[in-house]
Amino acid sequence: MSGWRDRRLLDPTGARVPIVQAPMAGAGGVALAIAAIEGGAVGSLPCATITPDEIVRQAEAVRAAAGTGPLNLNFFCHQMGPLPDGSAWRALLAPFYAEEGASPPDAPPRLRLPFDDAQCAAVEAVRPAIVSFHFGLPEPALLERVRQTGALIVGNATTVAEARWLAEHGCDAIIAQGYEAGGHAGYFLSEHEPVGLMALVRGIVHAVDLPVIAAGGIAEPEAIAAALTLGAAAVNIGTAYLPCPESLVPPAHKQRLGTPAAAHPQFTKLFYGRRARGLPNRLVEALGPIRDEAPAFPYAAVALAPLRQAAEAEGRLDFTQMWAGQAAALTRNEPARALTERLAAGALAIIEGRS
Ligand SMILES: Cc1cc2nc3c(=O)[nH]c(=O)nc-3n(C[C@H](O)[C@H](O)[C@H](O)COP(=O)(O)O)c2cc1C
Repeated sequence: MSGWRDRRLLDPTGARVPIVQAPMAGAGGVALAIAAIEGGAVGSLPCATITPDEIVRQAEAVRAAAGTGPLNLNFFCHQMGPLPDGSAWRALLAPFYAEEGASPPDAPPRLRLPFDDAQCAAVEAVRPAIVSFHFGLPEPALLERVRQTGALIVGNATTVAEARWLAEHGCDAIIAQGYEAGGHAGYFLSEHEPVGLMALVRGIVHAVDLPVIAAGGIAEPEAIAAALTLGAAAVNIGTAYLPCPESLVPPAHKQRLGTPAAAHPQFTKLFYGRRARGLPNRLVEALGPIRDEAPAFPYAAVALAPLRQAAEAEGRLDFTQMWAGQAAALTRNEPARALTERLAAGALAIIEGRS
């Protein structure tokens, strides 16, 4: 019999433990979601970078292995401006093109696209337990279609104002994404206003009458117990899953996690054009983490693609993002199911006063 007191997220989703394995575009996929669900958590599929057909196929693969366990499909809702003039950015990158023997791309690579009709149709086909959105919410008509599937709608807030906005616009639960979090900060009402997780969770708990899911810097049972004590109904954990064998990040990224070399992930806009936290690499060290020349999200990635490809062919991540949160040095390499079970059992023992 589970001893979790706050069941606001467990009961509607069927999760056995209050952990959401965070969706991580490019880093998590079918295997990670299956393992997390088997461990009792919500498993997530990041859908911003895959086609609607792939969304359906991946969801079927998760269900074939993990049965009816709780699945979250995750999408982006950024505003896409027109293709900007990237000439200043390409000029800044020119010395790297020369070094790598690469040239600027003729055609853009597949970009991160905002939630649209075709992705919504994939949600209607899959009918997951949860649909979560990063960078705001889709237009009301699309959101209503998602609601009709019966999915719990989860939005991501980086400030109390964003949490209020998400509550007013129909979310069923709110992710409180603290400053500590790895990957893209999901700010959407204004420029990034970094807030630490403790103050953010408490502020949102006071401001909205919805379950709060704490995200950012959570990699150990003690941190989960702390977040639940603050009033969170669950936690959203990303970076701690990156060293797992099921994660898709390249070996050079995995090897730095869990070591002192992962102690200082920082915010950069270089890779995609908006603030995301990751381990510094050659590009960040050479240019500095924030440059006005980098075009807005997601277009900065276009000019980097050939450099990234050339370096990755030699096993170098000189131009590849290595997203990681502030607890990256505290992570361990272990299978994702075992990690989920260890984190949950440890947190429960603390909460029940057994350790
Ligand atoms: C490698 C990586 C990729 C991410 N990609 C996504 C994504 O596709 N969608 C999303 O909503 N959040 C994404 N995030 C953010 C996570 O949902 C979550 O906020 C974050 O991982 C929590 O902080 P932590 O990494 O310290 O656990 C990503 C995070 C990481 C580390």
